[in-house]
Amino acid sequence: MIDHVIVTDEDNTRIITMRRPDKKNALTQGMYIAMADAIKSAQNDPDIRSIVISGGSGVFTAGNDLEDFAKANTANDDSSRPMAATQFLKALAYNEKPLIGAVDGIAVGVGTTMLFHCDYVLASTTATFSTPFIHLGLVPEAASSLLAPRTMGHHRAFSMLVMGRSVTADEAREAGFVNVIVAPGHTEVEARKVAREIGSLPKDAVALTRKLLKPAREDVLRRMDEESHHFGERLKSDEARNAFSAFFARKKKA
Ligand code: COA
Repeated sequence: MIDHVIVTDEDNTRIITMRRPDKKNALTQGMYIAMADAIKSAQNDPDIRSIVISGGSGVFTAGNDLEDFAKANTANDDSSRPMAATQFLKALAYNEKPLIGAVDGIAVGVGTTMLFHCDYVLASTTATFSTPFIHLGLVPEAASSLLAPRTMGHHRAFSMLVMGRSVTADEAREAGFVNVIVAPGHTEVEARKVAREIGSLPKDAVALTRKLLKPAREDVLRRMDEESHHFGERLKSDEARNAFSAFFARKKKA
């Protein structure tokens, strides 16, 4: 089976790379599980000082696989969001290692909302960030309804999450969820440098200071659960079904 997630450890850094280029790194259930496992198993490994999440060169991720969303729309159950995605989101919430996002190209949906859990984000000049939940008849996830306004203020969060507008790398830096903009193809190598810098700092003081900066975990988890409840209902809505069909119909016509 082709590995759509590559996990490597290097210089005290765990590097998680999404690699499904033919589908713009859209995240399948298996990819969520692999990413969740990579984050969870890093927690008790004293050699790992930071975690980098990357899409490699050219694309970060087109977000959740829409075929999986379409399947959930017709599934005959009352579950909230499919469990694999939830596992990944919870792994982000429980993560205690500095988390670095390396975004080259598009970051759609969870590709953007996972960045609100990151501690440092590098973007290339070609990066764009979008949370088009509204266009899919869905609601935000990953506690982004809590974390986005906290990061960028209500008005900018409204524009992204309620109006579904995307932002450029410059706008994301101005909004406060991108630290630095680098040339295309250089995000991962620059992210490794940031990880090395963090790795040279006093480990326990880094962990404690990071924790002090973060919102309370129970608030994040509570908001994830609340969003997940609505998300599961919305996944089964007519608005969502029509949006998923329109996406795949667009592909057939092209
Ligand atoms: N789920 C499943 N497949 C996806 C996908 C997704 N989220 N995003 C892209 N793909 C697939 C396309 O269907 C296409 O597959 P095909 O070649 O077998 O037809 C392939 O990836 C390339 O995508 P394409 O649309 O041709 O690339 P593009 O550069 O024109 O557009 C996007 C890229 C990301 C803007 C566009 O694909 C898109 O809008 N995707 C949906 C994003 C989304 O809504 N994600 C969920 C957020 S909650």
